[in-house]
Amino acid sequence: MSAVRVFAPATVANVACGFDTLGFALDAPGDIVEAVRQGPPGVRITTITGDGGRLPLEAAANTAGVAVLALLAALDDRGTGIELALHKQMPLGSGLGSSAASSVAAAVAANEVLGRPFDRAALLPFVMQAEKIACGAAHADNVAPALLGGFVLVRSYEPLDTVRLPFPDDLHAAVVHPHIELLTADARNVLRKTIRLDQAIEQWSNLAGLIAGLTLGDHALIGRSLKDTLIEPVRSMLIPGFDAAKQAALDAGALGCSISGSGPSIFALTRGRADAESAADAMVRALETYQLGSDRFVSRINPHGAVVL
Ligand code: HSE
Repeated sequence: MSAVRVFAPATVANVACGFDTLGFALDAPGDIVEAVRQGPPGVRITTITGDGGRLPLEAAANTAGVAVLALLAALDDRGTGIELALHKQMPLGSGLGSSAASSVAAAVAANEVLGRPFDRAALLPFVMQAEKIACGAAHADNVAPALLGGFVLVRSYEPLDTVRLPFPDDLHAAVVHPHIELLTADARNVLRKTIRLDQAIEQWSNLAGLIAGLTLGDHALIGRSLKDTLIEPVRSMLIPGFDAAKQAALDAGALGCSISGSGPSIFALTRGRADAESAADAMVRALETYQLGSDRFVSRINPHGAVVL
């Protein structure tokens, strides 16, 4: 049986005002998973590269393995053996959807070697189970865009209802990953569990404005709406130099800037690639003044999501 290799991309979740409900896919970085149908029944992870030995080989404890176990369980398949090789090509604990890239690549690869019993969107519940073991919450704002590509709104979790949103072709993202690690579970634990009505109104007005801006191709409206008055003020305290990096991105022409997922990565959206390059450089320089090194990524919005290589 021949192996199937799948690439799944990094993602920016939350997108400022859309906590747990909005995310988009980048072209790079991302993870590669190779799946092959062979061996005794069950899921085995044979190799992991690029993780510095930190991720578990045990399938039930690894997001790639959990997604494929969930897929086999949904098929009530107790006879098939699937072996996975996971090639991590992105940092752990970065706020770029690292666990989601692994689980999505694994689910898509396993689905292919099984003859594609599920369409893409039907894989979503399996990769959400993987997010649950990764951080304790089955949020879909990384896995949905990694799987489906583009900008994805998770309108409802029960029942699961996702919407792929239109976006202007020239929209680009500048992302910097400061060299500190923040676990999503920890970055969720610091959040307040209740908010006031006036705060809720401000947040959902911005989310509605962002979606209207994406749909209408109104860059100025996108920029005005990229505001997070609930989560960013709390989490940004965990990211040294965040305020300076954000101001630098805005000064360099970004439409807006906020924390990518649960951080510490910071993203900015821009009109065109040239502004994204400038915003990324400006953020890197701002973080350097805080003695913080960082990696930078510039990408269009990746419309494809995971791809079979
Ligand atoms: N919506 C999730 C959070 C994304 O912010 O906790 C985690 O990458």
